[in-house]
Parts: sequence; C-alpha cells; structure tokens
Amino acid sequence: MRPTIAVINGEQYWQSYFPDCEVISQRLQDASWVLRDGELWCISREAGTRIDGVFWRVGAIRPDPRHRTVLDVLRLSGVPCVNPASTLARCQDRLSMLAELRGAGLPVIHFDVALGDDMVRRIARPAPFVVKVGNHHGGYGKALVRSEDEWFEVADLLFAANDYAVVEPYIDYRRDVRCLAIRDRFWAMSRAGAGWKANVQTRKHQVIDPPEELVGYTRRAREHLGADIVALDFLETQGGDYILLECNDTPGLSGFPEALREELAECLRERMRR
Ligand SMILES: Nc1ncnc2c1ncn2[C@@H]1O[C@H](COP(=O)(O)OP(=O)(O)OP(=O)(O)O)[C@@H](O)[C@H]1O
Ligand SMILES: [Mg+2]
Repeated sequence: MRPTIAVINGEQYWQSYFPDCEVISQRLQDASWVLRDGELWCISREAGTRIDGVFWRVGAIRPDPRHRTVLDVLRLSGVPCVNPASTLARCQDRLSMLAELRGAGLPVIHFDVALGDDMVRRIARPAPFVVKVGNHHGGYGKALVRSEDEWFEVADLLFAANDYAVVEPYIDYRRDVRCLAIRDRFWAMSRAGAGWKANVQTRKHQVIDPPEELVGYTRRAREHLGADIVALDFLETQGGDYILLECNDTPGLSGFPEALREELAECLRERMRR
C-alpha cells in the first residue's frame, strides 16, 4: 500500500510533488486524531486514515490550545513531519518563538510584555509604538498607536481581548525583508503594504538577493530550532541596521520561486526514507 501523507491546511498542489504517496488534505480546525499502538490516525467526517507523513502548512488561523495538543500527539507518534513537530511546538506561541530567537542570540526587537487585566497600560511608551496582542499571524492583533488619545482607545480594546500583549517601538523602516531558508538554501523578499504592515494589502513584493547578514541570522535560527524551513521577518532601519521581528515556522510560499516547493517536498520525502 502507498504511504499516506496528510497535508494540514495546505495548498492544493502538493499531490504532484509526492507521486508515490496518497496525499489527503485536512483542515486542522475539522480534524480529530488518534494515536493507538504507535499508529497515527487522522479522522474527519468522511474517513479515518492512517498517516505515514505530515506536511504542516497551517497559516493564519485562530489559535486554539488544541493545536498545541495535536503537535504533541504528532511528536509522540514519531511520524515524519515537516517542520518537525518539536520545532512547530517551540514556535507555536508568539512569546515562545521570541524567547527561542533571543536564546539563539538573534537581534530581536526590544519589547515589553504584560499579562493580566489592564497591565498593558504599565508598558506603554511614548507614541508612536506598536502593540501586538496574543498569538496571531497575518498582521492580525497588531496596532500602531500614533498618539496618547489613540492609546486610550486601543488599551480599552485590549482589555476585551483578555490575552497577553507586547509593546515595541515603531520602526520607521526603509525596507521590510523576509529571509526564508529551506535546509541550506536561502531566498529573500522585500514587501511593501498599503499601510504600516508590509504583509497586509501588500502592494509590492520583490524577490531579492538575500543580504549576507540575514542569511547568517536565518541559518542560525533554523539550526537552533531544528527546522527544515523558517522565514525570518526583518525591518531595515533608515540607518541600514536590521531588526528581527519574528520567525515563521510555516511560511507562505507564494511570490517565491517555484523551486521552493520541490525543495520543501524533498524535506518530507527524505524524512520518510529514514
Ligand atoms: N515594531 C514595528 N515597527 C514597524 N513596523 C512593524 C513593527 N512590527 C510589525 N511591523 C510591520 O507589520 C508586519 C507584521 O508584523 P509581524 O511580522 O510582527 O506579525 P505577523 O505578520 O502578524 O505575523 P506572521 O508573519 O506570523 O503572519 C511586519 O512585516 C512589518 O511590516
Ligand atoms: Mg510577519
């Protein structure tokens, strides 16, 4: 029987990259999981399928504590997964991911954190500054506070969000650069958005030669996390310094050369051969 790969929240094109496997698409939000006698089963309304490999492509969905449990089940199963489930677990929460980057000695943006009712007011700084609430991707849960008055309103909404919040300086950046690594290959993209978030309503994106400095940082992050793929988001200041905003363990591939898909698929094929 052909091995079965579960693509979790992935693009539709992956079957053609795994001609020797059965590829099923599954939404994380709808799947149930069973690990029994070392066999991993993914169960949806339509079918229960034994899984031999997992291609984790989960993007900007609403965070749910169960997702962390799924990663731990995958990890316990030993079923090959790209990225490895242990890497995904370390990056799953934004704060955990930031702690990892700091631990790896990378130039992470300075930030303060508050947890508890109204505590965020204690970490406010002179405007403009950026506040990021909880564990969201795709630009969600992030606001630029331009003035004292705005802060009053935003802090009020943060109370309703009932989650941890991070405050960091607003960087008036020259360029937003994402540096992506798959194993030892590197790509970079510069993005510009309609507003201050380069990844929201992106107007321009351009594949660029990865700056050496960023290649070094991205390699270090990938090795530290034991990842197959990572993408680091940097801001280049007007003075030409790079500041690291975050690391993505399941970066989107659109806009990058198609060769990335083959390279990423090979990561899973190789893990399944071991
Ligand atoms: N402190 C900041 N100063 C200026 N711009 C910022 C700052 N933080 C974020 N941005 C802009 O907003 C974009 C989104 O922020 P960030 O990368 O932190 O989160 P995200 O994109 O929501 O997460 P993910 O990349 O996981 O989807 C950045 O690419 C950048 O253009
Ligand atoms: Mg980002």
